[in-house]
Amino acid sequence: MTPASAPTDPTPDSKALRALPVAEIMRRAHHRHLLVPAFNIPYLPMVEPILAAVAELRSFALVQVARPDIERFQCGSYQAVAREFRSLADLAHARLHQDHVPVIDEEGRRIEWRPLVQEALDLGYHSVMIDGSRLPLAQNIAVTREVVKIAHPAAAVEAELGAVLGHEPGPLPPYEELFRSGRGFTDPEEAARLVTETAVDWLSVAIGNIHGAIIGAARDQRKVEARLHLEHLRYIQERVRVPLVLHGGTGIQLAFVLGAARHGIAKINIGTAPRQAYETTLRQTSDIRAAQQAAAKVIAGHLRDYHIVGSALLLASPV
Ligand code: 13P
Repeated sequence: MTPASAPTDPTPDSKALRALPVAEIMRRAHHRHLLVPAFNIPYLPMVEPILAAVAELRSFALVQVARPDIERFQCGSYQAVAREFRSLADLAHARLHQDHVPVIDEEGRRIEWRPLVQEALDLGYHSVMIDGSRLPLAQNIAVTREVVKIAHPAAAVEAELGAVLGHEPGPLPPYEELFRSGRGFTDPEEAARLVTETAVDWLSVAIGNIHGAIIGAARDQRKVEARLHLEHLRYIQERVRVPLVLHGGTGIQLAFVLGAARHGIAKINIGTAPRQAYETTLRQTSDIRAAQQAAAKVIAGHLRDYHIVGSALLLASPV
């Protein structure tokens, strides 16, 4: 594993990409049906192998931090990850994203979300996510608008509509039952309304995807191999023009992921697979270097599977 170092590549294409706002990079990815993976950082030493794998394969990805990465795992803080990112990242290959700031969290608690979003903006995060998905639509729209107002133009904003389950305590209903019922799927008309009324940059949707568990013994178990309702995604895509986001990326059957990229999904969040590789190797070897290598291997596998080796070059030219 080559350590990531900034910047790795002096070509004019890389220079152009380094100067672009992340919203424009995502707009290009969306237009070209290229996936931009967003990798969570549950442990601070994971920043380096993720950046190294992405740069080595000349791809483009987001490094992201969610509250559970800080509170349930050990990445430290938004600030610790920002510092590590700044010292290692080449902006031609990666940007920093604040994942899921919920207004109501997975345990039903109201969260003081404003200071969390402000902290990330002050730290120079390139994009932030406000998750009002547990609110009624009008309130989700109101909080999303507020975040867009404070974040633009310096940072891009992601919102969520629909229920991407999996982070809640307690067992999930059987997956097939969830999928067949379409319970919690994003409503296309509501999605159109939210995007139009907020000017949000990206929208996270629920189409059969579920998050990997983060609570209790389930967080060590292999995740269900989810499917995606691509027909439903097409209805959303017909009404919404911004890049769409797929949370719960670990374990989704590859053919569905690649199909989703053809129908509006431009960002895919991946947390569980690299985390479990890192934790398992660390448990077995007590060697952080070996754990980093295990995580890097999983990251590289995703970049290959998603056909985005070399994607940075494609993203450097305008659409
Ligand atoms: P997985 O842990 O299922 O890959 O999902 C990650 C995610 O969606 C973070 O927002």
